[in-house]
Amino acid sequence: MARALTIATATAIQYWLLFGAVLPSVGTTNADQRAIKLLDQAPDWLRPCRLKDPELNSCVKDTFQNMFPALAKGIPEIHVDRFEPLYLSRLSLSKGHGPVTITGSFYDILAHGPSKAKATSAVLDMDRRVFELGVFLPEIRIESDYNLQGKVLILPLIGNGPAKVNLDNVTTSVSTRFELRRLQGRQVLHIADMTVDFDIQGMTVNLENLFNGNKVLGRTLNAFVNKNALEIVKELKDPLGESFSVVFKDIMNNALSHMPIDLWLLDQ
Ligand SMILES: *[C@@H]1O[C@H](CO)[C@@H](O)[C@H](O)[C@H]1NC(C)=O
Repeated sequence: MARALTIATATAIQYWLLFGAVLPSVGTTNADQRAIKLLDQAPDWLRPCRLKDPELNSCVKDTFQNMFPALAKGIPEIHVDRFEPLYLSRLSLSKGHGPVTITGSFYDILAHGPSKAKATSAVLDMDRRVFELGVFLPEIRIESDYNLQGKVLILPLIGNGPAKVNLDNVTTSVSTRFELRRLQGRQVLHIADMTVDFDIQGMTVNLENLFNGNKVLGRTLNAFVNKNALEIVKELKDPLGESFSVVFKDIMNNALSHMPIDLWLLDQ
């Protein structure tokens, strides 16, 4: 009887340790946590690194590089949607001062090109909980709808309708601060903050249905935007970077939440 009680108590404590004790740090319900399917073993696309490796950063860079093609196709067994094309429901923009002012958003976005991403650098500092990743994308072709209003240098801009945007030679630098969270008794990396800096070498834009469908004004504005594309992007760097960071953080956390670090950041 006493023994049975002890076992029951021990089981309850184990249960609490596994599912109860992680609650405050994770902030989701037990059901959510158990719904997340963790990888049992490292698949081909997940190459482990050793934390004590003096070339850890280079190893982590290769790990991400190796992961991109698999992520591009999607990994249904861990609920990771395909990245190619990448679907984003919305990218909002808000900038109220300066030569370019704009409010509104691009929505129902399909971006082709993320599968061609190359990891160019990585820095992983487990003590400071800092992770940085450099990514180069040779080309991104975007089709979406837009709803924007504002002023681009000397011209007003107002419209909503379909948009096409092509970006060339996009260099991004993603800086994150992360936490380690316990999920089902294992640890996963969770990105708490992210900032995204980027540089674009070429951009072409076509916004349809500007100015209520006035074709002459629409053509004028598109030509003007294309002629001054890089300057406009420079003006929009901060709000675009913020918008990207919201989206990338979600995407990365979704993938990382299924990848316990015991599979890819080995202690020994
Ligand atoms: C992108 O980079 C390639 C290789 O460096 C170069 O040939 C090409 O001209 C660049 N494109 C733009 C738009 O700058």
